[in-house]
Amino acid sequence: MENKKRVLSCIQPTGDMHFGNYFGAVKNWVALQEQYDCIYGVVDYHAITMPYTPKKLRENVWDLVINLMATGVEAKHLFIQSLVPEHAELSWIFNCFCSYGQLTRMTQFKDKSLQSKETSSDDFISSGLLTYPVLQAADILIYQADYVPVGKDQIQHLELTRNIAQRFNHQMGKEYFTMPEPLLTQIPKVMSPADPNRKMSKSAGEKHYINLFAEESRIRKQIRSAVTDTGETPEGKMSPGVENLFSMLQASGKKEEYDSLIADYHNGSLKYVDLKDATADGLVAISKTFRARKEELLADRKAVKNQIKASSMEIRKKAQETVRGAKEIAGLQNIKF
Ligand code: TRP
Repeated sequence: MENKKRVLSCIQPTGDMHFGNYFGAVKNWVALQEQYDCIYGVVDYHAITMPYTPKKLRENVWDLVINLMATGVEAKHLFIQSLVPEHAELSWIFNCFCSYGQLTRMTQFKDKSLQSKETSSDDFISSGLLTYPVLQAADILIYQADYVPVGKDQIQHLELTRNIAQRFNHQMGKEYFTMPEPLLTQIPKVMSPADPNRKMSKSAGEKHYINLFAEESRIRKQIRSAVTDTGETPEGKMSPGVENLFSMLQASGKKEEYDSLIADYHNGSLKYVDLKDATADGLVAISKTFRARKEELLADRKAVKNQIKASSMEIRKKAQETVRGAKEIAGLQNIKF
């Protein structure tokens, strides 16, 4: 336990979990639990940077916790960010070690501020949206994480995290914060079944994602109507829709079916209906297992809540220790207890 390297990752509570979230991140979280000392956060402080409703947020947090546990993430690795308020405290300190210009240059800030201008009636953009990556840096550095499993879209935020750690360490004259590294693993890109040129995501609407916990009939229907050929693919190249089906089939662990169907593809005998049936079978099998586990967890919500509160308190001790040390070095006052 002691000499395992630490992995840290977080996810925002935004409602339904889909196969893109699962194959693209959460499946990896489950796998990493063996080899690393893992800490995984449900980050509700991040979720309030965009307009939201309190009731929905609270529901989403617990839904996500249950969904994560249903997929195999162990409760002892999980915490809820607002139960560890030191994240916000460290984030303030880090704000002072990060330049304003650097934050305005973040791609995600530019995208999201544009998006919120387009979707909301007023043009309110919270400062939280700007300083969001600073809170993310606190999430990572507060646990002295060695590795952060990241998708491409988060690399820029991890770079900023490293900059903040460097600036703090340098200005305070002490190598206090561990420099986190990205943990790059082979992760399939899961696209929308309705538009295979865009990522599977909830923000685009219901037909653009397949809920991980959906009923069998719904999954089959969505796969059956998935876009295959759009007529725009150059000769000899696999169309994005077919590629997406193959990649979901492979990710679902149906190796034999995958090998045989890919061989059919290469000799020109592939029938899309066979590819779709196999892919749907793969997804349905996963979904069935997870749905059963979710039912069990839902039957005892109280136990789940108690477990997560306890694990958050355990994880909080590590956060408190780091923040205490950082305040000491930074010339701030610590409450003695
Ligand atoms: N920003 C990440 C996302 O939108 C979520 C996140 C918050 C995160 N804090 C983190 C990811 C720390 C990794 C590490 O997906």
